[in-house]
Amino acid sequence: MEKSQGKRENWGSRFGFLMAAAGSAVGLGNIWRFPYMTGKNGGGAFILIYAVFALVIGLSIMVAEFAIGRRTSLAAVGAYKKYSKNWTFAGVLGVLSAFFIMGFYPVVGGWSLAYIFKSVTGLLADQGAIEGIFGSFISASGEPIIWMAIYLFINVFIVAKGVAGGIEKASSILMPTLFVLFIFIAIRSVTLPGAGAGLEFIFKPDFSEVTGSTFLAALGQAFFSLSLGMGCMMTYGSYLNKEENLPNNALLVTLMDTSVALLSGIAIFPALFAFGMEPAQGPGLVFVVVPSLFAQMGTLGPLFSVVFFIALTVAALTSSVSLLEVVVAYLMDERQMPRKKSVSIAGGIMVITGMLSSLSMGALSGVSIFGVGFFDFFDILTDKIFLAIGGLLLAVFVGWFVNKEDLKDELTNSGTVSFGLFEVWYGVVKYVIPVAIAIVAVMGIMAIEQTSLMIFGVGLIVLLAAISKKL
Ligand code: TRP
Repeated sequence: MEKSQGKRENWGSRFGFLMAAAGSAVGLGNIWRFPYMTGKNGGGAFILIYAVFALVIGLSIMVAEFAIGRRTSLAAVGAYKKYSKNWTFAGVLGVLSAFFIMGFYPVVGGWSLAYIFKSVTGLLADQGAIEGIFGSFISASGEPIIWMAIYLFINVFIVAKGVAGGIEKASSILMPTLFVLFIFIAIRSVTLPGAGAGLEFIFKPDFSEVTGSTFLAALGQAFFSLSLGMGCMMTYGSYLNKEENLPNNALLVTLMDTSVALLSGIAIFPALFAFGMEPAQGPGLVFVVVPSLFAQMGTLGPLFSVVFFIALTVAALTSSVSLLEVVVAYLMDERQMPRKKSVSIAGGIMVITGMLSSLSMGALSGVSIFGVGFFDFFDILTDKIFLAIGGLLLAVFVGWFVNKEDLKDELTNSGTVSFGLFEVWYGVVKYVIPVAIAIVAVMGIMAIEQTSLMIFGVGLIVLLAAISKKL
C-alpha cells in the first residue's frame, strides 16, 4: 500500500480537526439518545457497560479509522477499495448507514430547532402540559416536517462550503460553547431538592436487569455516539495532515464524547427524579424533562431553555454534517461529482426519508415495515446491526488484511512520534474486538424483539458482500 499523493482538502488547523471530530461525536447521541437508552436499560449498569465498550472497543476502532482514512486519503468506500475489491461492500455499508441515520436524525434535529422558538412562546407556561405539547407537536403532519426541512437545509449549506470553510469553522465556535452550557445545566439539576435519587440511578449499577439486549444496546450506543462503524471518522481522517498524532486525537475525542454523555445524564436524571417522572419514557425524555426543569425557574426559565435548545441544535448539526459528508465524499471520490451537486442529491433524498420518519410519529403510524415504523426502522437497523457489524468488519480488515508495518508507520507518523501501546492496540483490534462484537451481536440479536427486521438487516449485509465485486 503506497501512501497516496495528490491534492485533497485539508483541515485548516489542529484545533479545527479536533473540534470537527469531537463535533461529529458529540451530538443527539449524547444528549437525546444516551439518557433515554440509560432510562430504558436500567441506569447505572448500562452506563458502566457502555463506558467499557466506548473506552476499549470504541477508542481502538477510532484509532483504526483515522489510520486507514489518512493512509489512503480516501473516504470509506475508496479506502477499502484501494486495498481490495472484496472489501468495497464494507464501505458501501457505511454509506448506506449514513443514509439511514440521516433518515431519522434530522427529524430530531428539527424538534430541537423548533424548541428554541417554543421556549419563548408558551411551552413553559404550564409544567403539567409539557408532555402533552411534545406528543402533539411530533405527531402533527405539517410543523415538524417544516422544521426538519429547515434543519436539513442548514446541513446542506454547511457541507456545500467544504471541510475547512464550513464544517471546521462552525464546530470550532459551537463546540466549546456547548460544553460550558452543559456544565451549568448539570449544576442546576443536581441542586434540585430530591435530586439524589437520580444520581443513585445513574451511578449505582443494578445488574439484575442486564440481558443480551442490554449489551447490544450499549455497544450500539457506543458506536453511534463516537461516530464509528461506518467510515465517518475514516472520512474525517482522510482530510488530516501527516503531522497529527492519531492515537492522541482519538483519545481526546473519546474522552470528550464520554464526558458529555455522562454530563447529560447528570443533567437529566436528578431533575427527572426530583419531578417524579418515569426514567423509561423513551425518545421524548430530553424534550420533556429539560423544559420542565426550566419551567420551574420563573422568569429566567425561558432564557435558559432557549440557550439549551440552541446548544442541542448545534451539537446535532456538527454531527449530522459529518454524516452528510460521508455520503458527499463518496459521491465526490467514487462518482466524480462536484461537491455542490453531491450535496444537493444527498440532501434531496434525505428530505424524503426524513418526511417518512416524521410522519411515522403520526399520520403514518399505522404503516409498518418489518414490524416497526419508518423512524424505528432507520434507527434500529443502524444502531443495532449496521454500526456494530461495520465495526467488526473494520477490525477484521485492519487486523488481518492490512500490513502491520504500514499501520505502525501511519500511527507513528513514520516513526516521528511514539505510540507506546501499538502492540496492545493491534492485539485488541485483531483478536479482542472481532470476538467481542460477534458475541454481543449474536446474544443481542437473539434477545431482541424485532426478529424480522434483524433478519432483513443481516440479509442486506450478506447481499452487499455477495455483489461486492460489482460495487
Ligand atoms: N455521533 C453522533 C451523535 O452522537 C451521530 C453521528 C455522527 C454518527 N456521525 C456518525 C453516528 C457516524 C454513527 C456513525 O449524535
